[in-house]
Amino acid sequence: MSPASLPQTPHESAPLDSSAAAYPGWRDLWSFLRTWRRSPGRVGAIAPSSVALARLITSEVAAAPGRVLELGPGTGVFTRALLERGVREEDLVLVEAAPEFAALLERRFPAAQVLRADARYLPHPLSRVGSPVSAVVSGLPLRNLSRRHRLAVLLGAFGHLAVDGAFYQFTYGARFPLPRSWTDRHGFKVQRLGRVYGNLPPATVYRVTRRAASRWIGA
Ligand SMILES: C[S@@+](CC[C@H](N)C(=O)[O-])C[C@H]1O[C@@H](n2cnc3c(N)ncnc32)[C@H](O)[C@@H]1O
Repeated sequence: MSPASLPQTPHESAPLDSSAAAYPGWRDLWSFLRTWRRSPGRVGAIAPSSVALARLITSEVAAAPGRVLELGPGTGVFTRALLERGVREEDLVLVEAAPEFAALLERRFPAAQVLRADARYLPHPLSRVGSPVSAVVSGLPLRNLSRRHRLAVLLGAFGHLAVDGAFYQFTYGARFPLPRSWTDRHGFKVQRLGRVYGNLPPATVYRVTRRAASRWIGA
């Protein structure tokens, strides 16, 4: 991801490509619902995200060299959007805790590295990854985690991000899932990237960068 490509102003819903369905197919809906029934708190949604949300959350992740880390890919709606953006499948590292989703991801994206792991403890599973990643795209239901675990996810992700890399998170809530005082204390800058009304429920996407990095990004 190139810092120069980061937009300076937030925007609302990314336009929907009229040739694409707004939501992934029935098979994904069914798979989601089944997994949600077994573990509602961890899955955090009864259906996959919309294509519009996938486009917004991946909108700044260009086909730059370097790996991209995705947390909580589920059935892979953001993963597909990343591939559409030109990220190579072999540059994707997918961290998924639900075994049924991890198995599905392995079948769908055979060249990607699928880690069946808990994103709250990122340093451990990612020690197998190696070089820093250029972006982290998170579909984790952060609001269902304790604040301590939310922070652990963020710190763990930044432990693997390149210095000018960014972390992208969506939320159904009214604000970013960590208080400003916490993100300030750890030197993170949180910016609202936009809101997608065509998602059920509507969701807001945030970009988190390191304060020092955002100074030279000019944001
Ligand atoms: C709200 S769903 C989002 C799925 C997909 N990104 C989407 O937007 O459709 C949350 C996903 O995060 C996964 N997940 C939840 N907690 C996790 C954790 N601690 N570590 C890794 N994956 C987790 C769930 O299994 C599920 O796939």
